[in-house]
Amino acid sequence: MKYLAFLCSIILTVLLFGYCSQPNNETSTDKKTNIVNPNGDSELALFMRYMYDDCMRVKTGIEEGGAETLEFDPDKMFTAHATEPEKAASEAYQQMGKAYLAAHEAYQRAQGDDKKALFTGLVNNCIACHQQLCPGPIRKINNLHFEN
Ligand code: HEC
Repeated sequence: MKYLAFLCSIILTVLLFGYCSQPNNETSTDKKTNIVNPNGDSELALFMRYMYDDCMRVKTGIEEGGAETLEFDPDKMFTAHATEPEKAASEAYQQMGKAYLAAHEAYQRAQGDDKKALFTGLVNNCIACHQQLCPGPIRKINNLHFEN
């Protein structure tokens, strides 16, 4: 029982603070300092942050009844250099990325009342990939959900 609780708290820590790195091996300290960023963030990390900011702008736009279009080119997800390149090259990343692209395009074509639902679908695709490959930012990405 105690062991289980310990395990759960580790899993929780990974989810809350782990970003993409899992502290399950000796290099975990090195990887963690990566997050604090002594050497510069990867191209993919910077691009993801830009996607987040652009999504936040669009979310606010939808809430205020504006006609908001996403500016970033989602194809860059497949070419930008990642902190852990093997992750971006993985089958899971490629599949989740394609699913995201479809949701992105559906949102860009959405009209009127459909925008809110299709934007939520897009955010769920961000989260789906993050659940598999990079749980750390999920809490932040959840801010892109509408409150009601
Ligand atoms: C196909 C998988 C995938 C999809 C889809 C995806 N991400 Fe990511 N995301 C990643 C990976 C992998 C990283 C780690 C990048 C790195 O460190 O090189 C990441 C990193 C991030 C980060 C952290 C960047 C930092 O500061 O280090 C944020 C924030 C983020 N993504 C937001 C989003 C948002 C918002 C979306 C949807 C619009 C999204 N992601 C869609 C895989 C994905």
